[in-house]
Amino acid sequence: MVTEQMTEQQLEVAEAELIPIYIMGKQYMVPPTLTIMKAMEWAGYKMIRGVGCRGGFCGACATAYRIQGDPKLYFGLACQTVVQPNMYLAQLPFFPARRASYDITKLEPTPTTLFSLYPEVLRCLGCGACTKACPQEIDVRAYMAAGMRGDIAQVADLSFDCIMCGLCAARCPAEEAQYNIAILARRLYGRYLAPRSRHLEERLEEIASGRFRAEIEELKSLAKEELVARYKARDIEPK
Ligand code: SF4
Ligand code: SF4
Ligand code: FES
Repeated sequence: MVTEQMTEQQLEVAEAELIPIYIMGKQYMVPPTLTIMKAMEWAGYKMIRGVGCRGGFCGACATAYRIQGDPKLYFGLACQTVVQPNMYLAQLPFFPARRASYDITKLEPTPTTLFSLYPEVLRCLGCGACTKACPQEIDVRAYMAAGMRGDIAQVADLSFDCIMCGLCAARCPAEEAQYNIAILARRLYGRYLAPRSRHLEERLEEIASGRFRAEIEELKSLAKEELVARYKARDIEPK
């Protein structure tokens, strides 16, 4: 890393290690160990849009890139992908895919619901461009095929790791909104189809009935030291 304290010789060595990348068509020299996101900050960009968790979970930093001389178009998350020499970058912090409006409490978990809110699901060509673009390595084509069959549970299962980055939609020749279709399926599955957890329902009923209210009030009245002491003395389940 180049700092103000470096000697001229150190600076020359550090600069020799820098690699060229292109942000919005302009060349910047950056250290080769940085992620795209950190390289953009190194180059002086202040990330306001197109950044969120910085840990590969939120999907805000979708990025398309090409390497000079290579015709292939690549996709990745800016916070997870390390820069390469002569990388041409384009950030896609938001992709304008269609999103249906609905009240999940008024829907039925049926294929008709899926097809009426997202009729375009039936237009999928099965080309697989979406699967190639997905930084989560989700088989997007497979969950779209499940969607065409109206199999809500399978769409929910296959799309479980989707982070809504939008890269699949950016590549789709059928103009699908894959991730919005998938989140509808996960919502329907979670609300209506997933097996209920009886012990969770019992615990919620206990909480609602006020069974723990006195204990919570007592804890809220304690000084920090007493809370720490109680925390340390708590029962811990054996591993
Ligand atoms: S890119 Fe579009 S058309 Fe191709 S498989 Fe994926 S959803 Fe279907
Ligand atoms: S399925 Fe689409 S939106 Fe979800 S992570 Fe993969 S590319 Fe991103
Ligand atoms: S900033 Fe959240 S996935 Fe990259």
